[in-house]
Amino acid sequence: MSTSGKQRVLSGMRPTGQLHLGHYHGVLKNWLDLQQEYECFFFVADWHALTTEYEDPSIIEKSVWDMVIDWLAVGVNPGSAKLFIQSRVPEHAELQMLLGMSTPLSWLERVPSYKDQQEKLSNKDLTTYGFLGYPLLQTADIIMYKAGHVPVGEDQVSHVELAREVVRRFNHLYGREPDFEEKVEAAIKKMGKKNARLYHELRRNYQEQGEAQALEKARALLESQQNISIGDRERLSGYLDGGGKAIFPEPKALLTPASKMMGLDGQKMSKSYGNTISLRENPNVVEEKIRTMPTDPARVRLTDPGEPSKCPVWNLHQVYSDDETKEWVVDGCTKAKIGCLDCKKPLIKAVLEEQGPIRERANEYINDPETVRGIIADGCEAARDVARETMEEVRDAMGLIYR
Ligand code: TRP
Ligand code: SF4
Repeated sequence: MSTSGKQRVLSGMRPTGQLHLGHYHGVLKNWLDLQQEYECFFFVADWHALTTEYEDPSIIEKSVWDMVIDWLAVGVNPGSAKLFIQSRVPEHAELQMLLGMSTPLSWLERVPSYKDQQEKLSNKDLTTYGFLGYPLLQTADIIMYKAGHVPVGEDQVSHVELAREVVRRFNHLYGREPDFEEKVEAAIKKMGKKNARLYHELRRNYQEQGEAQALEKARALLESQQNISIGDRERLSGYLDGGGKAIFPEPKALLTPASKMMGLDGQKMSKSYGNTISLRENPNVVEEKIRTMPTDPARVRLTDPGEPSKCPVWNLHQVYSDDETKEWVVDGCTKAKIGCLDCKKPLIKAVLEEQGPIRERANEYINDPETVRGIIADGCEAARDVARETMEEVRDAMGLIYR
């Protein structure tokens, strides 16, 4: 929860190359929706990229500004979302280090991506301390902003799970303040008589009867209180379970709807498969790439009927075409009434139309690097304000403020 009363959302992207249509349809469009509803923090995860690209970090340097420009060009709005670069908020490193003190090695070793990625990226030596610590750095990213929701793909859900476990442990170890009870009583009063009574009743029902519903209701009650501070809300939330003040809330993964975006060859669109159309691809290249896309192999001659479900071009129609066009494709393909090049034409048009305004806006930012630097500087500052506050709390809770 932020001071604005909106829930916080945080997400990061690794700067390891050009963004493509898969990122746009899979991730960025989701960000555009989220930024309307939540207080969003979106950041360039350059340290995360370094865990795998440490031997040659040049790709990171090349990608950072391009990625920010891509975000802005598709409509990520720096007026509502805070955009920043991870390494400009060094508090993330401090928090990861402190969390590391109490995080068992086995928790990190059993995160599935640890072994998976080592196998997949076998050309890289990922038996490093940095790579093992990747999910803990991600935990620090998330909880630094007390984000309630983290939009991620399926592959990242286990990282958010780890974050939840780390939070639970941290709150358990360091959560209780010496004057906790008094603060709780004061906070309850602030809710007014009626709500205070309701809160007590729900807490009792939960603690004595174990009614899960009562817990949920009590949490909802707290969410709806406008006149209590973040700290008080966390105390009251902690008091429900009989614990202390929860310094960090447990984040939840907000599963990004699986991207419908398939690559040019019918596999998932991904840089490593070389089947992408980049977000600001040159129009001639877009046309060439679509024209040369493989189609249903059954259609050798124009007179051979085909089956759209066996054709990667059909996947693109799912994203770009209206019902009428899709009917035209099915009819034309299965009855051999249209050629594959005809079938591809509306797609070329649709992709170019989609990219036109994106390219235009990107060019504006490319020609005005000062504005882009300024947006990031502002975002970093806003992020750092929150990060400094969080770290004060963390140092305090861990007894690291020596007066
Ligand atoms: N690990 C994420 C990925 O590879 C990127 C990332 C880093 C992230 N920190 C994050 C995503 C925090 C969400 C929240 O895509
Ligand atoms: Fe694919 Fe269209 Fe050719 Fe059918 S007509 S095989 S859907 S490109």
